[in-house]
Amino acid sequence: MEDKPKYGWYVKDLIIGFNIIGLIGLSAFIYGFLIDGIAQIFLIISGLAVVLVFLWPGIGMIILNLYLLRKIPKIDLIARMKALDEISNPQILDVGCGTGRTAIKIAKALKNGGHLFGIDIYSKMAISGNSLDTVQNNAIVEKVEERTTFKNGSAIDIPFENNSFDIVNVSSVLHEIHDPNGQDKAMKELYRVLKPGGYLYLSEWNRTSWQLIAFSGLCCFVFKHKDYWEKLLKENKFKNIIYENITGFGIFTVRK
Ligand SMILES: C[S@@+](CC[C@H](N)C(=O)[O-])C[C@H]1O[C@@H](n2cnc3c(N)ncnc32)[C@H](O)[C@@H]1O
Repeated sequence: MEDKPKYGWYVKDLIIGFNIIGLIGLSAFIYGFLIDGIAQIFLIISGLAVVLVFLWPGIGMIILNLYLLRKIPKIDLIARMKALDEISNPQILDVGCGTGRTAIKIAKALKNGGHLFGIDIYSKMAISGNSLDTVQNNAIVEKVEERTTFKNGSAIDIPFENNSFDIVNVSSVLHEIHDPNGQDKAMKELYRVLKPGGYLYLSEWNRTSWQLIAFSGLCCFVFKHKDYWEKLLKENKFKNIIYENITGFGIFTVRK
């Protein structure tokens, strides 16, 4: 067993790929100033385009990871999850738990008993070292293994009965389901597994926030505007919608 949890880097392979391509673009851009003729214009313009499209988000994603790994308190989702204190013995589901960075924090915050279940399809692209073994080991290292259970499962076919959970959390996951029908199916599944009156916490980067644009450049288009999620929540009968902007990362608190 490891003595430190391994939460991994978000999109590590993409970061490497983007930075390699970006540095090639930067080299072409600089080389453009050393030569003459039509090739000069071509190298400067195409090099600059590659820098903007690849190097900018490549470096931004490194900064973002460092920022998150240093646990900047501003992005503290757990402090926003008031239901964790209000409900006694809460049954909680974390959908897309990955290596457990958010799920284990929730489990640590449980003061009134309760149990946290986590599911994920364990996409390797999303987080380095993403696996069921990693999250289970992290739970042991963080001493929450007795109040956590992790298993394989997808947001669009959640492997639990109707009305099972007091609280469902889904952090930075739904944007990874690229097709709108899939997102709608996931929303229906989140609703189905919540108990009546239960709380859903849905967090995602907001496409038009300056913080996301600063970090990700054109890659901000991977994310949706917050109004998109609000509409989907309303269409799926969620009530009492509250939205809080946490430095560009938004958290919806809604109820079934
Ligand atoms: C950006 S990571 C966020 C992980 C975690 N929620 C956190 O806060 O650190 C996205 C996670 O969603 C998972 N994921 C993507 N599509 C999913 C789906 N359809 N069902 C369940 N998990 C999914 C990925 O495998 C990955 O672990």
